[in-house]
Amino acid sequence: MRLVLLGPPGVGKGTQAVKLSMHFGVPHISTGDMFREALAKKTPLGLLAKEYLDSGKLVPNDITIGLVRDRLENPDCAEGFILDGFPRDVAQAEALEKLLWSLGVSLDAAIYICAGSDVVVRRISGRRVCEACGATYHVSFNPPPEDGKCPKCGGRIYQRGDDTEETVRERLRVYKDLTEPVVDYYKGLGILKTVDGEKDADEVLDIIISMV
Ligand code: AP5
Ligand code: ZN
Repeated sequence: MRLVLLGPPGVGKGTQAVKLSMHFGVPHISTGDMFREALAKKTPLGLLAKEYLDSGKLVPNDITIGLVRDRLENPDCAEGFILDGFPRDVAQAEALEKLLWSLGVSLDAAIYICAGSDVVVRRISGRRVCEACGATYHVSFNPPPEDGKCPKCGGRIYQRGDDTEETVRERLRVYKDLTEPVVDYYKGLGILKTVDGEKDADEVLDIIISMV
């Protein structure tokens, strides 16, 4: 199964990607997670990505596309993948098509998860993440334990540095300007499926599985 997940920041792409990866037994590939991991390890990639993550702007395409190309060429992607956070503009979508063509495979669907901006802002502002395993919690919808330790791995639960009001506003602006046109790109290819992301997370999962 080869899927891309599209949608505004905070709509639940990461949440669904983890579930879909388990369901289909294929890797979850999140460019945002890859940048955050590189930043935590202070690698050259992480240090370069830092200013973009902190400001909510896109990391330049030559870097991001190269990173995804290397990842998709890995043998563990032979049977498929769930791409989360990529492509994020039309140039990335075109590069992905070319790359998949060169690998002799194609996408099964592009899943567009949508929700109103009030909902996504509420989800982002309440989000908490495990530093060690990346599990996502929400102070109201899926509260982490009071001791601040991840029930799955014991890691420290924290709030992402780019979940501040100012950066979220910029991420939403970038989404509108650059990422929304990707929805039309996949509509044009005839593989776009739209799901109402305001529903409960398990319901959203069931709908996606029934669509693909
Ligand atoms: P990235 O990490 O991709 O962030 P994003 O797109 O802004 O998406 P989020 O991770 O904020 O949200 P999500 O949709 O995954 O929601 P989640 O499941 O966590 O990118 C970060 C930065 O990296 C970018 O700004 C950019 O700088 C850089 N970058 C990344 N990719 C790039 C690319 N391709 N090119 C260039 N630069 C790139 O859910 C949110 C919250 O809601 C959670 O608390 C969750 O528990 C809760 N929740 C989820 N679903 C539900 C539900 N159905 N009901 C109730 N609560 C829910
Ligand atoms: Zn954890």
